[in-house]
Amino acid sequence: MHTANVLELIGITKRFPGLVALDQVDFSLLPGEIHGLVGENGAGKSTLIKILNGVLRPEGGEIRIDGQPQIITNPRDAAALGMAFIHQEPTLFPNLSVAENLFAGRLHKSRWGFLRNSEQLRAARTLLSKMELSVDPTERVGNLRLAEAQAIEILRAVSDSASARILIMDEPTSSLTENEKRLLFRLIASLKKEGVAIIYVSHFLDEVLNICDRITVLKDGKRVNTHTAKALSKADLIIEMVGHGVESPKHMGSPVADEVVLAVSSLNVKNLLHDISFYLRRGEIVGICGLLGAGKTELAKALFGLLRRESGTIAIHGKPVDVRSPRDVIKEGVGFVTESRLTEGIFANLSVRENTTITLLKRLSSRLGLIATRTQRQLASNAVSDLGVRAASLEQLIMYLSGGNQQKVVLGKWLLLNSTILILDEPTRGIDVGAKREIYRILQRISAEGTSILLISSEIDEIFDLSDRIFVMYDGRIKKQFARGEVTKNQLIAYVTESTSLET
Ligand SMILES: Nc1ncnc2c1ncn2[C@@H]1O[C@H](COP(=O)(O)OP(=O)(O)OP(=O)(O)O)[C@@H](O)[C@H]1O
Ligand SMILES: [Mg+2]
Repeated sequence: MHTANVLELIGITKRFPGLVALDQVDFSLLPGEIHGLVGENGAGKSTLIKILNGVLRPEGGEIRIDGQPQIITNPRDAAALGMAFIHQEPTLFPNLSVAENLFAGRLHKSRWGFLRNSEQLRAARTLLSKMELSVDPTERVGNLRLAEAQAIEILRAVSDSASARILIMDEPTSSLTENEKRLLFRLIASLKKEGVAIIYVSHFLDEVLNICDRITVLKDGKRVNTHTAKALSKADLIIEMVGHGVESPKHMGSPVADEVVLAVSSLNVKNLLHDISFYLRRGEIVGICGLLGAGKTELAKALFGLLRRESGTIAIHGKPVDVRSPRDVIKEGVGFVTESRLTEGIFANLSVRENTTITLLKRLSSRLGLIATRTQRQLASNAVSDLGVRAASLEQLIMYLSGGNQQKVVLGKWLLLNSTILILDEPTRGIDVGAKREIYRILQRISAEGTSILLISSEIDEIFDLSDRIFVMYDGRIKKQFARGEVTKNQLIAYVTESTSLET
């Protein structure tokens, strides 16, 4: 039997100054189908989604819904056509509450004119329970963790999809840990059963292969192929995306020096971190994993002077440092790649060159006067080619880069500074499979050269493959420590997901 497409794209083309972001792309979506969309950073995935949302207008091609050609000029048009969206970057209002965000913009649609406050709270609690989120619906979204905000964003779109027939997700799991992922997949399965069609964009290829019916690969703005997921191997998928195979990193067993470069003793942050003590040696990679809310990001922030210490000491290169602000630790050679690059990591209105060199300028300008633009260009250009950043030029404003490429610029900035200690919070979030491999290679290289790395990640694979030692955090504490080889990957996953087994 032939089922009609709910959505069809024919020959969609989108140009930006200096590049063709989408080149005659065809795409189709069946009712109840989960259709994966994959490709390298900058391949054009988010551009395609913004066209469906009416944020961008294509120069050529046709969009059909239920066989009817449509012109989508703004997000309201898209909603009226039955599409709901989860965007790659959070679009929540930080100053509104969780409940207000969940129902923002469609209060007027309620049959009673608007939802009463108590009803709104009740509806919010019901939604929150779908992802087992223990978040107070009256809490300001600005106070939430990144993963919680992402889950709220998902729930908002899912509640929209009560009326929507097409749900479009741009990297919904990039900040989620195992538990929320599991709940999201359950939600997706139930939507599919109701006949909702889903476009699923992700760099987690295992996920894509697992949950999707079909997979379309984009490369440099062109559609390479559309596959039945069942008939496809991960290795073949990678080759189509990247153009060649990518092996997983092999631990190099780099010799770690005895010299301790960071020593933390009985660190406490009110309500967030309890009695944290550990050391980091020269050239060592220590991986930190744990569930959402375990305190991983809080630990990074406390070490970088972004959270107030209640008690405890921090010694860097053998010297006690009274850490009160990032300046205190940057001065000692510490760098920090934050998980939320949009609010803390980048300057959206500055160019790629300025973003990569800005911290360097601040640090050196006091001593040497301004660095010549030419030197800056040289440094930025090295960093950009090292990490394979895809940008029209070094002068491109960073806000016009794809999400993954922005992330690479943030990382490049700290690598340029030759930090002796790097704190990386989800450094490969949103980064494609080939570029990830490049980043792992760079991390292994600089660690072999003596840089020490605290690697925070919700990707167990990455923690497992790169770390010399691994900490599992739970409830603001370091609950377990393993040296390399002391645990298998599966044991580690069990420790991270079944927090109970950590209770001693
Ligand atoms: N507003 C814009 N102006 C200029 N160039 C843009 C703009 N938006 C996107 N681009 C460029 O279009 C290309 C496609 O970007 P897009 O965001 O669609 O990539 P993506 O596949 O979503 O990548 P990622 O996996 O990193 O999210 C990139 O080269 C990007 O720099
Ligand atoms: Mg994108």
